[in-house]
Amino acid sequence: MTRVFSGVKPTGHLTLGNYLGAMRQWVTVDQHRAESLFCIVDLHALTVDHDPARVRRLSRQAATLLLAAGLDPELCTVFVQSHVDEHARLSYVLECVATDGEMRRMIQYKEKAARERARGGSVRLSLLTYPVLMAADILAYGAGEVPVGDDQAQHVELTRDLAARFNQRYGYTFVVPRATLPKVGARVMNLQDPLSKMGKSDDSGPGIVYLLDEPDVVRKKVMRAVTDSGQEVVYDREARPGLANLLEILASCTGGNPSELSGVYESYGALKRDTAEAVVEVLRPVQERHKELCADPGYVEEVLRDGAERARAMARPTVDAAYRAIGLLPAASDPVAVDTGAVDSGIVLNAAR
Ligand code: TYM
Repeated sequence: MTRVFSGVKPTGHLTLGNYLGAMRQWVTVDQHRAESLFCIVDLHALTVDHDPARVRRLSRQAATLLLAAGLDPELCTVFVQSHVDEHARLSYVLECVATDGEMRRMIQYKEKAARERARGGSVRLSLLTYPVLMAADILAYGAGEVPVGDDQAQHVELTRDLAARFNQRYGYTFVVPRATLPKVGARVMNLQDPLSKMGKSDDSGPGIVYLLDEPDVVRKKVMRAVTDSGQEVVYDREARPGLANLLEILASCTGGNPSELSGVYESYGALKRDTAEAVVEVLRPVQERHKELCADPGYVEEVLRDGAERARAMARPTVDAAYRAIGLLPAASDPVAVDTGAVDSGIVLNAAR
């Protein structure tokens, strides 16, 4: 059975971009057809300036929202990255396979580092090595598919390269995964700046629809979306990015096609009104379920505890295999590892066999 892995980083409140670009596919497709793991990748939230209490709060909120959106712990595994040591264990080993040039070419690193420097801040080393940790997240589970939005495609490409390189140098250890992107909604843009991605860590609130925004707030944000000069409703990403973004959001929310939908509207106002209502309707059940789950925090904790246990059991054998393959001496307490390791290295270990 195909294994699927994906994650969300608790650096801000989850957005419509996270939902349409990734979460909805996890809920409606992936968990039903594959052995799926979905992770709140909290270690990644430490790569930029952060407030510890806020990261904890956002991690809990993200877990609650993933369940509210429809992830079912009977069908998939939902867990928090830092609860499973295998991610950090494997990340270091993969750093010994990756090159610094590769890291510096990552678009997200270049953009975020430039922003940080412009603010006069310093860039954390972990921001540079972040994509290696992301590769470890995926490879530890032998995931074949990684459902993500367009902005993560380059990181998944890097993951493929690292897996293939490791396998070639040290023997077959990792499944080489591929990214799966939704047909529509893979890159939801900021409503106030349709040339930039709608990102949860950005400051521009009015251009970002958050999953927990009240219906009236959603309506206001969509109605005030920046559109392009012109009268006609046409779908053209290059020339009319603001309009194209609205058509894609509407299409993604209603299961339509942005190009066909453009023919249905004669005015920007009508398109905005329908888009706003479509977003409100998509968010309504998520918000209702979120409210219920907030009243039962014990349930969310239990899901995360079980999820971490299952995830640990899945990741451990692959990460152990990677340690052995790359030449690390197995610990004497690991009976399986001692057998092969002692023979391979010619060292006679005094371990109980
Ligand atoms: P993150 O937390 O930024 O986003 C989570 C998911 O949402 C998608 N996404 C979007 N899709 C469309 N339009 C947008 N405006 C938009 N904004 C976000 C992202 O593409 C992503 O799929 N590095 C990852 C988290 C991660 C991960 C992993 C993902 C860490 N390890 C392993 C997959 C597998 C990130 O920062 O996602």
